[in-house]
Amino acid sequence: MSQSTTTPPNDLSAFWMPFTANRQFKKNPRMFVAAEGMYYTTGDSRQVLDGTAGLWCCNAGHKQPRIVEAIAKQAAELDYAPAFQMGHPKAFELANRLVDMAPEGINHAFYTNSGSESVETALKIAIAYHRARGEGSRTRLIGRERGYHGVNFGGISVGGIGPNRKTFGTLLSGVDHMPHTHIPENAFTRGQPEHGANLADELERIVALQDASNIAAVIVEPMAGSTGVLLPPKGYLDRLRAITKKHGILLIFDEVITGFGRLGSAFGADHYGVTPDIMTTAKGLTNGVIPMGAVLTTSEIHDAFMNGPENLIELFHGYTYSGNPIASAAGLATLETYKEDGLFENARDLAGYWEDALHGLKGLPHVIDIRNEGLIGAVELSPIEGAPTKRAFQAFLDAYDAGILIRTTGDIIALSPPLIINKAQIDELIGKLATVLKNLD
Ligand SMILES: Cc1ncc(COP(=O)(O)O)c(C=O)c1O
Repeated sequence: MSQSTTTPPNDLSAFWMPFTANRQFKKNPRMFVAAEGMYYTTGDSRQVLDGTAGLWCCNAGHKQPRIVEAIAKQAAELDYAPAFQMGHPKAFELANRLVDMAPEGINHAFYTNSGSESVETALKIAIAYHRARGEGSRTRLIGRERGYHGVNFGGISVGGIGPNRKTFGTLLSGVDHMPHTHIPENAFTRGQPEHGANLADELERIVALQDASNIAAVIVEPMAGSTGVLLPPKGYLDRLRAITKKHGILLIFDEVITGFGRLGSAFGADHYGVTPDIMTTAKGLTNGVIPMGAVLTTSEIHDAFMNGPENLIELFHGYTYSGNPIASAAGLATLETYKEDGLFENARDLAGYWEDALHGLKGLPHVIDIRNEGLIGAVELSPIEGAPTKRAFQAFLDAYDAGILIRTTGDIIALSPPLIINKAQIDELIGKLATVLKNLD
């Protein structure tokens, strides 16, 4: 490998890193310089097992030949085409593949470049949809405490993670939040928890307060990932679906993490058997290789816009890179890889082994809860008194030194390995994590 890829740049100050303790990082940087399959290579030539699929996005693992080849070929053929009033074949092809994969009734795809943009797009479509149908008073949005919907203004407004909101002013008006579904009775549950379906009834309380005629949409993650893997209690999502339907409110599933096999099905909607009106996706759509997202909607929503003179733009929204040719090529190759390599099936087949391995950590120091579903897991640690997040972050650093990549949020360790993982690699990941936890202060 050449010097330039293995040696950290000598001045780290210009790059203001996202969601990172910049000063701490730059004193002791952690650099990845290559990746293949389940492993990253560090700047000091160590192999690190990817326990998080990058940032919940490299579901097919790293350096997948189909994806690498598709990107190279597309770049040489058509690098960019204007996204507005022009098209190119691969964007249409990918939209067709996506709606083929999506639950029955979801028939249209609008492209974005990230999960955050998918969320903004979905919220705008929801409000504009009601207006297009003559119900323009439906503008209020309902999110959930501890929800994560990206970092743009709409997303942090409906989102429910305090630090992501508190320094950014007044946010969107007209937003309510339902309570989160993380309740102590469910500690150490394997898979979906038993208690808490009734928390969906809080939506009725908000409807009674604000009136359904003012409410456009409810947005939730089917399984809340970024906040620390909070699973929907049994029956909870069905109830949300029933209540939203009863009141003519759109239900948006933010599937940015749950999309593309994470739970062993194409989408969280399939896994939980509940179909929303709109689904937001990104991350696994292109295996994280090229930024791309897509908002998937029903025909009912799409068709409500297809009125008026045909020469007029129906939705005044879009991005320069919506459906970018290289992203579309990456998306097509990614979906093909998931299918041809049976990766959703692999996730489903390994879910039981994963669950047993993860719950084997019960009883280790500081572990106060373990949660799992599909190929996702969380190990919650008791915080150090007066220093929340410190213990889990130390675990993250120790894990990195031990050769595994984990992710922490608060004092929760989240795991979401690429779906290509095998049993030996699950043993390696959980075994090394066990050693880290045993030695943690
Ligand atoms: C559910 C959910 N929505 C939205 C986002 C934001 O995605 P991005 O970081 O691509 O903007 C994330 C990212 O983790 C997410 O988990």
